[in-house]
Amino acid sequence: MDSIPTSIVIFGASGDLTARKLIPALYNNFKKGRLATCTNVVGFARRPYNDETFRTCLREGVETFSPESFDPATWEQFAVRLHYFQGDLDNGEDFPKLETYLKTLEGGPSNRLYYLATAPEHYANVIGELGEAGMAGQAADLWRRIVIEKPFGHDLASAVELNQRVHAVFEESQVYRIDHYLGKETAQNILFFRFANTIFEPVWNRRYINNVQVTVAETVDVGHRAGYYDSAGVLRDMFQNHLLQLLALVAMEAPSSFSADAVRNEKAKVFESIRPVALSDTVRGQYAGYREAAGVAQDSQTPTFAALKLNIDNWRWQGVPFYLRSGKAMARKTSEIIIEFQRPPHLMFRLPEGQDFTPNILSLCIQPDEGIHLRFEAKLPDSAQEMRSVDMDFHYASLFSGSLPEAYERLLLEALEGDASLFTRSDGIEASWKMVDPILKGWQATNDPPLASYPPGSWGPDQAEELLNRDGCLWRLGCTDELDAPPAKR
Ligand code: BG6
Repeated sequence: MDSIPTSIVIFGASGDLTARKLIPALYNNFKKGRLATCTNVVGFARRPYNDETFRTCLREGVETFSPESFDPATWEQFAVRLHYFQGDLDNGEDFPKLETYLKTLEGGPSNRLYYLATAPEHYANVIGELGEAGMAGQAADLWRRIVIEKPFGHDLASAVELNQRVHAVFEESQVYRIDHYLGKETAQNILFFRFANTIFEPVWNRRYINNVQVTVAETVDVGHRAGYYDSAGVLRDMFQNHLLQLLALVAMEAPSSFSADAVRNEKAKVFESIRPVALSDTVRGQYAGYREAAGVAQDSQTPTFAALKLNIDNWRWQGVPFYLRSGKAMARKTSEIIIEFQRPPHLMFRLPEGQDFTPNILSLCIQPDEGIHLRFEAKLPDSAQEMRSVDMDFHYASLFSGSLPEAYERLLLEALEGDASLFTRSDGIEASWKMVDPILKGWQATNDPPLASYPPGSWGPDQAEELLNRDGCLWRLGCTDELDAPPAKR
């Protein structure tokens, strides 16, 4: 751990993210003894708080959002590290003032982690002001890093422009673009599962895998976020970042080391290999009632659900479809990856009339029931030839004690320690926009496929089922006990 003090400066510190995620994550790291005791956290925002009122708000945040770990005595030790600087993001004069304030607080050499928790329209400005105020340059042993929240850009052009603005002030090695899915234990475990074991890798390719499915379904609707969401939609909100990152973890080649650049190089190759998506391989939906939510346009065409079929043009994956779907107001909250293996080349067992064969399925369950399941066929006892699907299960909750840490705990720690493996590099961001942008533009220009309505609490519009059915596939769920579900159709 660094012996030089570190200041964490949060821009937009009076917002939801700070109270809900950032401070609980820092508090939990502090409680686990993982934050150097000399670390200062400085909140920058416009509201007329002082240190005391700021601490009181943040205490409520930790009590509410991390109640199981809240402990008043530890909080008191942690809270003295929290400070508030009242400033206006749009006022250039407030940045040199902040610099003076920080220097006084630090009282000597200090590292800095700047965290952009503001609305995205402020990113370029804050970055520019940090540059102007001379707050981004690194001295010999002192580092300056910046963490940037999503959304990173609104489309390819704005993402490229933002990268240019960032690079005018910070070196790429100073930049940590957050995708909180990469901080989830189960997402990180995908690489361990694939590359710390030998038995899966030989079958992890087109010869043995029939298709891959990524489902990120949420039961919540747009809630109070309509202002942002109605101009974003599900493709920008979930696909450009979280779903494509999950896909890259499943599809990438083995990196030569676990270093940030080795991992990100392999991910970049996956993004580059994704074939441009035909609009006929896309489905977009909007849940019924979305347009009634406050802040949503009456005639909104914003999709709250999408499903895509992707092809990865490389030796490993040629001919293996990757199906991705995500939506709000769906039947269940689940984030999972299904690897569906090929059927046996010749099945010598007779299946009862009307029953279809279930291929082997590996389910990587990201949340909420974190674990891994391998489904295979077993002979039904006391029958001649009947079989049924059974699961080999691994559940984090039953094997490891304690709840899994929040994604932000790991991500903040990695940024403080200077490991960018779990953060997105500029080329990765641009490559993912290159994939998503033509779909967004195509939908807008052609209205094809038309926006389909789906009932809240469902699995999205029927067209999403048809997308797979036409290839002889089915959406599958493996992360809860679905074995009693109707038999597969293929
Ligand atoms: C965010 C999206 O990035 O991820 C939200 O902006 C979404 O719309 C959230 O609800 C989902 O995250 P999680 O961790 O609950 O799956």
